[in-house]
Amino acid sequence: MKTLQLKNVNKAYGKLTVLENLSLEVEKGEFVAIVGPSGCGKSTALRMLAGLEQPTTGEVSADGTVIKGPNSNRVMIFQEHALYPWRTIEDNVGLGLELANVSKKERRGRIHKVLEKVGLENFKTYYPHQLSGGMKQRASIARALVLDPEVLLLDEPYGALDAITRLTMQNELIRLWEGSNQTMVLITHDIDEALYLADRVFVLSSRPGKLVKEVRNDMLRPRDRNSTQFVKFRQEIMESLDIKT
Ligand SMILES: Nc1ncnc2c1ncn2[C@@H]1O[C@H](COP(=O)(O)OP(=O)(O)OP(=O)(O)O)[C@@H](O)[C@H]1O
Ligand SMILES: [Mg+2]
Repeated sequence: MKTLQLKNVNKAYGKLTVLENLSLEVEKGEFVAIVGPSGCGKSTALRMLAGLEQPTTGEVSADGTVIKGPNSNRVMIFQEHALYPWRTIEDNVGLGLELANVSKKERRGRIHKVLEKVGLENFKTYYPHQLSGGMKQRASIARALVLDPEVLLLDEPYGALDAITRLTMQNELIRLWEGSNQTMVLITHDIDEALYLADRVFVLSSRPGKLVKEVRNDMLRPRDRNSTQFVKFRQEIMESLDIKT
């Protein structure tokens, strides 16, 4: 079943065309990645899926219904973790539940469960400045997961992390996804990250972003970044982006 759909989407800000005739579909429970050069409209496309932007022409829909605004079924995780510095980790994670008027008792249970899932249960009383970059990113993922969304929209979640932490976080994300029915849409600059994680990789051209390639990636997990197939996919994507290998 198609959970998310962009149909012939064009997006312009004034005279600047950002996305051109973009069509793509995401199946329920699928993990897809979108890669493309800086400024090609990736975040714009994700914001449209989150209901934070409207297309200029074309249609963006979820479960067959046009997306008119944000909805707690689809939660976005921003590149900058955006935790509130004056709130502890548990209070940051519980924010969405507070806003939804979930009782204190239920909140406590759900926060505990999700902090355990991301390995932060011993840090719940810490403030963001007392955590490492990777831990802050885990907290920000926990803040989305606690709402139990059907769709997670991740905009370069690991962009600010060092290479080693990034690899660990990729494995954690796969583990979280495999234990859920969630649909994942991940934006990344990192072709290897896309190929390591996703069932399908959409490649956008430089602005105006157009779909230039779609890779169906059936490699078994955990994936070997040095396998012949991985290297082949990487080359194909780089060629489609006109990057010399
Ligand atoms: N609200 C806005 N008003 C005007 N222009 C905008 C707005 N949002 C984005 N843009 C423009 O749209 C283009 C695409 O921006 P977007 O953030 O989607 O790129 P991106 O692919 O996510 O880039 P990056 O990889 O650097 O994050 C940019 O040229 C940007 O200046
Ligand atoms: Mg972006």
